[in-house]
Amino acid sequence: QELELMQIASDISAEAHTRAMQAVKPGMMEYALEAELNYIFGKNGCVPSYNSIVGGGENACILHYVENDQELKDGDLVLIDAACEYQLYASDITRTFPVNGKFSPEQKALYEVILKAQLAAIDAVRVGNSYKEPHNAAVRIMVQGLLDLGIMQGDIEQIIASESYRQFYMHGTGHWLGMDVHDVGSYKQGGGWRAYEAGMVVTVEPGLYIAPDDETVDAKWRGIGIRIEDDAIVTDSGCELITRGVPVAPDEIEALMRA
Ligand code: GLY
Ligand code: MN
Ligand code: MN
Repeated sequence: QELELMQIASDISAEAHTRAMQAVKPGMMEYALEAELNYIFGKNGCVPSYNSIVGGGENACILHYVENDQELKDGDLVLIDAACEYQLYASDITRTFPVNGKFSPEQKALYEVILKAQLAAIDAVRVGNSYKEPHNAAVRIMVQGLLDLGIMQGDIEQIIASESYRQFYMHGTGHWLGMDVHDVGSYKQGGGWRAYEAGMVVTVEPGLYIAPDDETVDAKWRGIGIRIEDDAIVTDSGCELITRGVPVAPDEIEALMRA
């Protein structure tokens, strides 16, 4: 019954993100886009599970940005981390999409890296794997992507061991989700990371954030912040995503925004 309620919360949240993708246009204010989300939440008798983040352009690099008071600009991405709770059960979704409906080559290249990292992390959410395995899988893909794009230089093993990737990825890849968005439950057990069990719910939320003033990277990358977040139920054979009612692939997002 709890999982059914979380599926309903996720469906409503996905509908809210879909509406935001369809509503956004250059010149709109971040709070106006937030209002589109709140309309869907409220219409369904829901409240936000947490303070909605609607960050255009470099505001996406501020992890807990909640001011939502700036203009959304042509050529920028907007990162929305927002979701509702339904009958006390939370959901938690992030999508990042172009304000003008079309990803630039740099935005798309970075987005593809994060999506690939998310798919690897999702694949690691399975019974018996430790809580940290999705994070480790996501980090490895993203570091390789940063190397391939020339945003980082050096040796992948050394970058992972030293955690120097934290310049661009400074948060974890997931947390328990339930009656709270960061739900109760230990992450460690018996001295190690806890293993996944069927019925657990976890978020999978890799991202990359290139600070606007980061002079260690080519100017074309600066100020881009992207996160992709979905919610997964651990099953006997892997995991089931409950938040894919809103598209995540760049071409599907662009198609939805064109429609
Ligand atoms: N929206 C809070 C989080 O993603 O953890
Ligand atoms: Mn989350
Ligand atoms: Mn979130």
